[in-house]
Amino acid sequence: MADSPYPELKKSHVPERVGRPWTDYKPPPSAPVWEVISGFGSFHVLVAALELGVFDALGDRGAHPGIPPEVTATELAQELEVSAPHLEALLDSLTVLGLLERVGGRYSLNDTAARYLTTDGAASMASLVPVAPGPLDNWSRLADTIRAGRPAEPIDDNPADFYRPLVEGTFTTMLRAATRADLQVRYSAMDSPRVLDLGAGGAPWAIAILNACPDATAVVNDLDGVIDIARRTTAEHGVADRCQFRHGNFHTIELEPDAYDIAVLGHICRTEGPEGARRLIERAAEALRPEGRLLLADYFTAPEPQWSPHSVLMGMTMMASTVHGFPIAASQVATWLQEAGFQALRLIEPIGHQYLYTATKTRNLQQTREGE
Ligand SMILES: C[S@@+](CC[C@H](N)C(=O)[O-])C[C@H]1O[C@@H](n2cnc3c(N)ncnc32)[C@H](O)[C@@H]1O
Repeated sequence: MADSPYPELKKSHVPERVGRPWTDYKPPPSAPVWEVISGFGSFHVLVAALELGVFDALGDRGAHPGIPPEVTATELAQELEVSAPHLEALLDSLTVLGLLERVGGRYSLNDTAARYLTTDGAASMASLVPVAPGPLDNWSRLADTIRAGRPAEPIDDNPADFYRPLVEGTFTTMLRAATRADLQVRYSAMDSPRVLDLGAGGAPWAIAILNACPDATAVVNDLDGVIDIARRTTAEHGVADRCQFRHGNFHTIELEPDAYDIAVLGHICRTEGPEGARRLIERAAEALRPEGRLLLADYFTAPEPQWSPHSVLMGMTMMASTVHGFPIAASQVATWLQEAGFQALRLIEPIGHQYLYTATKTRNLQQTREGE
């Protein structure tokens, strides 16, 4: 459609206006399109800064007495042994992204960078950033994936290689979410709970619960090739002696019925497709004792996509790289939970962007099912 020669003017005020194709509206800004275009570059700017150690170098400076936390691009380039003009462009890009401070040509960490982007930041996401979108090749072939209904090279073909770095990267965030969840879930008030953590990754949920309950024990499951990460992290947090490690496929490993007080499905449902997710919920229901608690963490979508943008895009990430991955709707999960015999459903956000359904298994699942 031909554009107005003066798009910034309200069209009805242009003398030549004769009606269509011009409209009475000011044209919309192109900012959303530019934001998407620069989003690609922004991601790589951050990945490069992490790879070069920019945030750690700035953090180290502030940590030593007599060494000012602010530094010029040239000084930092010498320290990192990189090209000064190139580094300056990178530092300025980080500044406009809100990830660094620049005053009078000197750069320093801001609070966001110190907390989330230094390796030992209190809530470090430094190792998560590069792996969070999944394999980058799958994004460049997204249109083909949408045509074919599946990615050409899904991570399902080699899950351990994909999940190992991912669960290392997500561990700190998930441990914070799991620990903070206690404020609302109050698992710390339970008496020696027996925990089942399926697809546990680095076992952040099992570790948080075992940390809070000195007599709790856990069965920790993951794939052969990933479960050794949970062995290491549980040892590092001093709870490995209360864990039994059960490697294998969470759809088929043996689970004792009516045996657990808490079952955790932490970010494993949205990769499994609706059938798989539902089966996992049913397995958890069978494994829990009556009145046992289910903790189901995921990125749940709201009825309208605009209401849960982060979850919608995380669902897309799954679709881009897995065979069955899908955006998982909060309302759909609630239905599955109720159909599997859960009640007292609550949806909470223990920390920003992390969501958790909690539900209690009805006292008598058999009776619930017979009544259906
Ligand atoms: C996104 S990570 C979540 C890790 C952890 N539960 C959390 O909340 O941080 C998904 C985990 O599920 C595991 N997983 C995927 N498919 C599995 C399967 N069929 N059987 C057992 N574990 C599986 C992966 O190896 C990975 O550790």
